[in-house]
Amino acid sequence: MNDNLFIEIVGVIENGGEKREKLQAICKLLKGNLKNYDWVGFYLVDESGKNLNLGPFVGAPTEHVKIAFGQGICGQAAETKKTFVVDDVSKESNYLSCSINVRSEIVIPIFKEAKIVGELDIDSHVQSAFKKEDKDFLEKVCSLISKIF
Ligand code: SME
Repeated sequence: MNDNLFIEIVGVIENGGEKREKLQAICKLLKGNLKNYDWVGFYLVDESGKNLNLGPFVGAPTEHVKIAFGQGICGQAAETKKTFVVDDVSKESNYLSCSINVRSEIVIPIFKEAKIVGELDIDSHVQSAFKKEDKDFLEKVCSLISKIF
Protein backbone atom coordinates (compact mmCIF):
# COMPACT_ATOMS: atom_id res chain seq x y z
CA MET A 1 0.00 0.00 0.00
CA ASN A 2 1.20 3.52 -0.83
CA ASP A 3 4.57 2.41 -2.18
CA ASN A 4 4.86 5.34 -4.59
CA LEU A 5 3.88 7.81 -1.90
CA PHE A 6 6.52 6.35 0.42
CA ILE A 7 9.16 6.74 -2.32
CA GLU A 8 8.12 10.39 -2.75
CA ILE A 9 8.49 10.96 0.99
CA VAL A 10 11.95 9.34 0.95
CA GLY A 11 12.81 11.83 -1.82
CA VAL A 12 11.72 14.76 0.34
CA ILE A 13 13.76 13.50 3.31
CA GLU A 14 16.89 12.93 1.25
CA ASN A 15 16.84 16.10 -0.82
CA GLY A 16 18.27 19.37 0.44
CA GLY A 17 16.32 21.94 2.43
CA GLU A 18 15.37 22.95 5.92
CA LYS A 19 13.66 20.55 8.30
CA ARG A 20 10.52 22.72 8.36
CA GLU A 21 10.31 22.76 4.56
CA LYS A 22 10.59 19.00 4.45
CA LEU A 23 7.91 18.55 7.11
CA GLN A 24 5.65 20.96 5.21
CA ALA A 25 6.18 19.02 1.97
CA ILE A 26 5.34 15.74 3.74
CA CYS A 27 2.08 17.24 5.09
CA LYS A 28 1.16 18.26 1.55
CA LEU A 29 1.99 14.83 0.10
CA LEU A 30 -0.04 12.97 2.74
CA LYS A 31 -3.08 15.26 2.53
CA GLY A 32 -2.97 15.35 -1.26
CA ASN A 33 -2.65 11.61 -1.78
CA LEU A 34 -4.67 9.93 0.95
CA LYS A 35 -8.44 9.96 1.08
CA ASN A 36 -10.11 11.61 4.06
CA TYR A 37 -6.86 13.07 5.44
CA ASP A 38 -8.35 16.52 6.06
CA TRP A 39 -5.78 18.08 8.40
CA VAL A 40 -2.17 16.91 8.48
CA GLY A 41 0.39 18.51 10.76
CA PHE A 42 3.37 18.10 13.02
CA TYR A 43 3.78 18.97 16.68
CA LEU A 44 7.35 19.38 17.91
CA VAL A 45 8.51 18.72 21.48
CA ASP A 46 9.92 21.90 23.07
CA GLU A 47 13.20 22.29 25.05
CA SER A 48 11.49 21.48 28.37
CA GLY A 49 10.41 18.11 26.97
CA LYS A 50 6.95 18.68 28.44
CA ASN A 51 5.08 20.55 25.72
CA LEU A 52 4.28 20.24 22.05
CA ASN A 53 4.46 23.24 19.73
CA LEU A 54 2.54 23.31 16.47
CA GLY A 55 4.89 22.87 13.51
CA PRO A 56 4.20 22.75 9.76
CA PHE A 57 0.65 21.73 8.83
CA VAL A 58 -1.82 21.70 5.95
CA GLY A 59 -5.51 22.35 6.62
CA ALA A 60 -7.58 24.76 8.67
CA PRO A 61 -5.71 26.90 11.25
CA THR A 62 -5.94 25.56 14.81
CA GLU A 63 -5.99 27.39 18.14
CA HIS A 64 -3.98 24.52 19.68
CA VAL A 65 -0.50 25.88 19.02
CA LYS A 66 0.93 24.65 22.34
CA ILE A 67 -0.19 21.41 24.01
CA ALA A 68 1.12 20.09 27.34
CA PHE A 69 2.06 16.40 27.60
CA GLY A 70 -1.02 14.55 28.85
CA GLN A 71 -3.46 17.05 27.35
CA GLY A 72 -5.73 15.94 24.48
CA ILE A 73 -4.96 13.09 22.11
CA CYS A 74 -1.64 14.66 21.12
CA GLY A 75 -0.52 15.09 24.72
CA GLN A 76 -1.53 11.55 25.63
CA ALA A 77 0.38 10.11 22.66
CA ALA A 78 3.43 12.12 23.77
CA GLU A 79 3.17 10.99 27.38
CA THR A 80 2.60 7.30 26.63
CA LYS A 81 4.88 7.26 23.52
CA LYS A 82 2.18 5.34 21.68
CA THR A 83 0.21 5.83 18.50
CA PHE A 84 -3.37 6.90 19.25
CA VAL A 85 -6.18 6.04 16.86
CA VAL A 86 -9.54 7.63 17.73
CA ASP A 87 -12.47 6.36 15.65
CA ASP A 88 -14.99 8.83 17.08
CA VAL A 89 -13.62 11.95 18.74
CA SER A 90 -17.02 12.78 20.26
CA LYS A 91 -16.56 9.80 22.62
CA GLU A 92 -13.22 11.07 24.02
CA SER A 93 -13.16 13.01 27.27
CA ASN A 94 -9.50 14.08 26.95
CA TYR A 95 -9.73 15.65 23.51
CA LEU A 96 -8.92 19.13 22.16
CA SER A 97 -11.25 20.07 19.34
CA CYS A 98 -9.77 21.95 16.39
CA SER A 99 -12.90 21.99 14.26
CA ILE A 100 -16.46 20.76 14.64
CA ASN A 101 -16.00 18.89 11.34
CA VAL A 102 -13.41 16.48 12.74
CA ARG A 103 -14.74 12.97 13.44
CA SER A 104 -11.62 10.79 13.76
CA GLU A 105 -7.92 11.29 14.45
CA ILE A 106 -4.56 9.50 14.46
CA VAL A 107 -1.43 10.69 16.28
CA ILE A 108 1.93 9.00 15.71
CA PRO A 109 4.97 9.82 17.87
CA ILE A 110 8.35 10.48 16.26
CA PHE A 111 11.37 9.17 18.16
CA LYS A 112 15.04 10.03 18.11
CA GLU A 113 17.22 7.62 20.07
CA ALA A 114 14.18 6.42 22.05
CA LYS A 115 13.22 10.00 23.02
CA ILE A 116 10.04 11.54 21.67
CA VAL A 117 10.88 14.59 19.54
CA GLY A 118 7.59 15.23 17.78
CA GLU A 119 4.37 13.83 16.41
CA LEU A 120 2.43 13.52 13.21
CA ASP A 121 -1.25 14.40 13.77
CA ILE A 122 -3.97 13.71 11.19
CA ASP A 123 -7.66 14.61 11.45
CA SER A 124 -10.48 13.33 9.29
CA HIS A 125 -14.00 14.56 8.67
CA VAL A 126 -15.20 10.96 8.51
CA GLN A 127 -15.57 8.53 11.39
CA SER A 128 -13.06 5.63 11.68
CA ALA A 129 -10.94 6.95 8.81
CA PHE A 130 -7.72 5.40 10.10
CA LYS A 131 -7.31 1.64 9.64
CA LYS A 132 -4.44 -0.70 10.47
CA GLU A 133 -2.90 -0.03 7.03
CA ASP A 134 -2.86 3.72 7.78
CA LYS A 135 -1.28 3.15 11.19
CA ASP A 136 1.40 0.82 9.78
CA PHE A 137 2.16 3.16 6.87
CA LEU A 138 2.31 6.30 9.03
CA GLU A 139 4.52 4.62 11.65
CA LYS A 140 6.90 3.69 8.84
CA VAL A 141 6.82 7.30 7.60
CA CYS A 142 7.51 8.62 11.11
CA SER A 143 10.47 6.33 11.65
CA LEU A 144 11.88 7.69 8.39
CA ILE A 145 11.16 11.29 9.45
CA SER A 146 13.16 10.81 12.66
CA LYS A 147 16.29 10.97 10.46
CA ILE A 148 15.83 14.75 10.03
CA PHE A 149 15.43 15.48 13.76
N1 SME B 1 -7.23 17.07 18.50
C1 SME B 1 -5.91 17.21 19.06
C2 SME B 1 -5.47 18.64 19.04
C3 SME B 1 -4.74 19.04 17.84
S1 SME B 1 -5.74 19.37 16.53
O1 SME B 1 -6.41 18.14 16.09
C4 SME B 1 -4.93 20.00 15.25
C5 SME B 1 -5.87 16.67 20.46
O2 SME B 1 -6.88 16.29 21.03
O3 SME B 1 -4.78 16.61 21.01
